[in-house]
Amino acid sequence: MDSEMTTLEIDGQSVSVPAGSTILEAAAAAGVEIPNLCYMKELGPYGACGVCVVEVKDCPKMLRACSAKVAPGMVVYTKSEKALATRRLALELLMGDHDGDCIGPCKLNCPAHTDCQKYVKEIAEGRYADAVATIMETFPLPAAIGRVCPHPCEKACRRRLVEAPISIAQLKYFAADQVRKDGNAHPIKVGAPSGKKVGIIGGGPAGLTAAFKLVQRGHDVTVFDQMPEMGGMLRYGIPEYRLPKAVLKAETDAIAALGVKYVNDFKIGRDEGFDSFRARFDAVIVANGAWKSSAMRVKGEDLEGVWGGIDFLRAVVTGQKPAIGGRVAIVGGGNTAMDACRTAVRVGAKEVFVVYRRTRKEMPAEDVEITEAEEEGVVFKFLYAPDEILGRDGKVCGMRLQVMELGEPDERGRRKPVPVPGKFEEIALDSVIAAIGQRNDPEGFEALPQTQKGTIAADEGNFSTTLPGVFACGDTVNKGAGIAIGAIAQANEAALAVDAYLNGAEYRPVKPVLSERDLGEKDFADRPRVARAKMPQRPPEERRNDFKEVNLGLSPETAQAEAKRCLECGCHDYHDCRLIRYANLVNADTQRLRGEFHEGFEERKLVTIERNQRKCILCNLCVRVCEQEAKQGLLGLVGRGFKTVIRPEFRDPSATDVCRTCRLCAENCPTGALKIIGG
Ligand code: SF4
Ligand code: SF4
Ligand code: SF4
Ligand code: FES
Repeated sequence: MDSEMTTLEIDGQSVSVPAGSTILEAAAAAGVEIPNLCYMKELGPYGACGVCVVEVKDCPKMLRACSAKVAPGMVVYTKSEKALATRRLALELLMGDHDGDCIGPCKLNCPAHTDCQKYVKEIAEGRYADAVATIMETFPLPAAIGRVCPHPCEKACRRRLVEAPISIAQLKYFAADQVRKDGNAHPIKVGAPSGKKVGIIGGGPAGLTAAFKLVQRGHDVTVFDQMPEMGGMLRYGIPEYRLPKAVLKAETDAIAALGVKYVNDFKIGRDEGFDSFRARFDAVIVANGAWKSSAMRVKGEDLEGVWGGIDFLRAVVTGQKPAIGGRVAIVGGGNTAMDACRTAVRVGAKEVFVVYRRTRKEMPAEDVEITEAEEEGVVFKFLYAPDEILGRDGKVCGMRLQVMELGEPDERGRRKPVPVPGKFEEIALDSVIAAIGQRNDPEGFEALPQTQKGTIAADEGNFSTTLPGVFACGDTVNKGAGIAIGAIAQANEAALAVDAYLNGAEYRPVKPVLSERDLGEKDFADRPRVARAKMPQRPPEERRNDFKEVNLGLSPETAQAEAKRCLECGCHDYHDCRLIRYANLVNADTQRLRGEFHEGFEERKLVTIERNQRKCILCNLCVRVCEQEAKQGLLGLVGRGFKTVIRPEFRDPSATDVCRTCRLCAENCPTGALKIIGG
């Protein structure tokens, strides 16, 4: 054997490397990755980060692989319990003083984790087709969901700390409408046929999203739905004035154009038993929604003229012209109640009341929906609960209302409504619409285990059921009805799980380790205020007479200006950042050692490189690369201990000319602290 070579063992593998090599180099030769942040081959070891630690047999202390040299017969463990624990500690120490957002709060707060920041930026740059492609990485209905989503992303949007959140949902449908109008959508790639058949029960947002995902993976997908057209609650529960059927149809047609087959007017139990259906497919997803209105449980509920909220909305959509009369009360405070009251106005009711047992502040409906309903003449009766529906000749003639007041907060922090003893009111009515919730219909799915609520019991992670090859997601499972994007989030997980199942594997989602900032208004005090875009609308006196869309849509100029308000919170380097990749490898707790952050600031609008000292881990790579590789020596560590920062600023004119062409520091920074800008 060559005397210049040293043979050692790394993670059970024998490897021979030139004598004098480091353990890190030997591991690389053996194909074993040892995390390292402050090391660069050209610069040699520096020893600042400590994440490259390994355990060596019979050696009492941990060694830094980037500087420790190999020895004959050495036995190295890169993933022993001790090595991983020490590496985790090193990463937790680095993360404890690392102040950055890996992912923007908008994306984190979207149940489906749609990349809001990315598509908002693409819209800001006028790249609408790219924006739609970004959205469609998550789900296939951007024009529909943009119109109806209560946008939890906006509730978390950082821009709210400046003046108002970015209008993310409206931007989403602006881009989708624009691309449809321009006919320039990016084509969606469909995978080579897998030979596997998937049957999806339910053509709503969950079923359609799962179909979209699975057809892209080459599976032969058929969606079955009980209604004459696809769309589920988006079609039959959301009124035309909020989501035109033609907009939805264009999106469901686009899914069909990818090869997804649709079978309508098909109901499990009525048209085929579940067992026989299941036998026809390699895998099945049950996503049949929640189509039953919840009962109010008051006397008189069975009178003629009492409607369930979604039954009423569906009757209108299917052209049944429900005879609700001139005076109508809607019971409930959610978005279905708003859809029902505004629809009642449009089908000709003269006086429409919303009866809600708390105050406006506690109403779960979107504030804008409440305002628009008021503008259209709906009268809100807050702090009232139905006590009895009054009837004459078997028909509704009024409602007795219990007067309520707010008591102690409940488990969600909302103050509980409590009856005021002996205080009642009566109103004369022709019909009552109960919009207090909806539930699934288990009929036909008895083979599947149920929760105590009567929903289908599915695994919360991968949405498998106890029946092999049967998955279930959306409003029909677990906690029951929620918002469409929540059902879509579940459908994405279910689709990944089905794909894995069809490939003989099991899918389990993993929650990534992230760095997150905790910011308040004072952190944005220096930002200029820019008003949020206002959506143009048809006037209330006009729109209350028909079902034409209320919102007129943003213009390209307004949309781009709105998108430019985005603060770009998520880190530009998330996909390349070694710090967060290694933190994930050891499942580091980024909060555990969080203390006082070292003095950090952002240097924005620099000529060539932006620097965010808050994300800097002081690994010194940039300083050394500038000195040793670029031969410039422009950078240095300034200050001592906790107050150390990298200097000088790149805006120094003597530095920028060199930096403009070199950029080596930013290319080699292991975190997102340095960002190359411009060309
Ligand atoms: S530098 Fe890395 S860890 Fe820090 S915010 Fe960016 S991606 Fe996350
Ligand atoms: S400002 Fe932009 S990146 Fe930040 S949360 Fe809002 S939309 Fe997302
Ligand atoms: S800015 Fe320089 S010192 Fe800070 S993390 Fe990046 S390379 Fe290391
Ligand atoms: S100490 Fe070895 S890579 Fe940082």
